[in-house]
Amino acid sequence: MMKGTIQAGFGEPREVLSIGEVDTPAVDDDGVLVQVRAASIHIGAVYGVRGLPKVMRPMFKSFIAESGVIGQNIAGVVEAVGKDVTQVSVGDEVFGSCKGAFAEYAATTSEAVAPKPTNSTFEQASAIGVSAFTALQGLRDYGNLQEGQHVLITGASGGVGTFAVQIAKAMGAEVTGVCSTRNVDLVRSIGADHVIDYTQEDFTKGEPQYDLILDNVGAHSLQDMRSVLTPDGLLLANGAAAPTGWFGGLGHPLKVTVSSVFSKQQGRAFLSRENKEDLDTLRELVATGKITPVIDRVFPFEEAVEAVAFVGEGHNQGTSVIAM
Ligand SMILES: NC(=O)c1ccc[n+]([C@@H]2O[C@H](COP(=O)([O-])OP(=O)(O)OC[C@H]3O[C@@H](n4cnc5c(N)ncnc54)[C@H](OP(=O)(O)O)[C@@H]3O)[C@@H](O)[C@H]2O)c1
Repeated sequence: MMKGTIQAGFGEPREVLSIGEVDTPAVDDDGVLVQVRAASIHIGAVYGVRGLPKVMRPMFKSFIAESGVIGQNIAGVVEAVGKDVTQVSVGDEVFGSCKGAFAEYAATTSEAVAPKPTNSTFEQASAIGVSAFTALQGLRDYGNLQEGQHVLITGASGGVGTFAVQIAKAMGAEVTGVCSTRNVDLVRSIGADHVIDYTQEDFTKGEPQYDLILDNVGAHSLQDMRSVLTPDGLLLANGAAAPTGWFGGLGHPLKVTVSSVFSKQQGRAFLSRENKEDLDTLRELVATGKITPVIDRVFPFEEAVEAVAFVGEGHNQGTSVIAM
């Protein structure tokens, strides 16, 4: 048996989450059991707890472990491996994705983990999860960001944004980060060439200069964004207001995509996907010091429910983590 953070139904974290005793997960033949040292929380995990928008509930349920334990991103020490596993051994320090991360032990496959970069703490390694994949795939695959291009990143201080600023710099782009006053120094410190404080200045009133906007917030319309995009610039609508009801939160990215069909300035939404190749790419970026996960609060495991509630407030400075 082990302790885990269990979800009972959909609702606010303090209403539906609790820490309880569950069976330690079994290891499949191609599986890996990890003693979790840290697990990170991304905003999507909170939407999954709330079950909003409701239309996505089947997908949210698919992210929960059989035991009812939630959480997707871990770093820890391999406790056991299945008989077919050759690349990972007991005692290895690893990070990666799984179901049931917010627990003492989590089972996953050997493909879903990679060696923990030696220059990272367990907390930092656990943060190389959904937010990092989203930043990488958004900029590289959907944004087709090229060296020398100018990219504007909103929500630059958050889970996705702090990875996006650093990855865009590593790709050779000129980076403008948008954040609130308290985060200006943070966003500058992770490499942004220019920082716009949204409480003081509306970036959509500036010059048309951005080849790409990675919008992690969704506070501006496509029309407003067009005025600061280059003539064939692209808006990636990654963020929206916190989801509500059946479809709330999905309207903005959909509207951006549909309303740009006949324009050279494209708007697009995307869904990131965790995969082995990008796990290795992100590992390499961290191991070589090109990016460093930014850690906000570290909560002890006993406060896992509070940790999820905190992330749900939407003011992360980087990524918040549960430590075992
Ligand atoms: N496409 C995908 O597959 C995918 C995957 C993961 C996440 N997402 C989406 O990406 C979005 C961002 O996620 P996240 O994990 O980065 O969220 P997060 O960690 O909660 O960070 C949000 C950040 O935005 C800042 N912010 C709030 N209002 C802002 C504004 N008007 N302008 C600039 N910054 C503002 C917040 O700080 P202050 O409040 O202090 O300013 C906070 O630092 C979410 O909407 C999420 O659903 C999409």
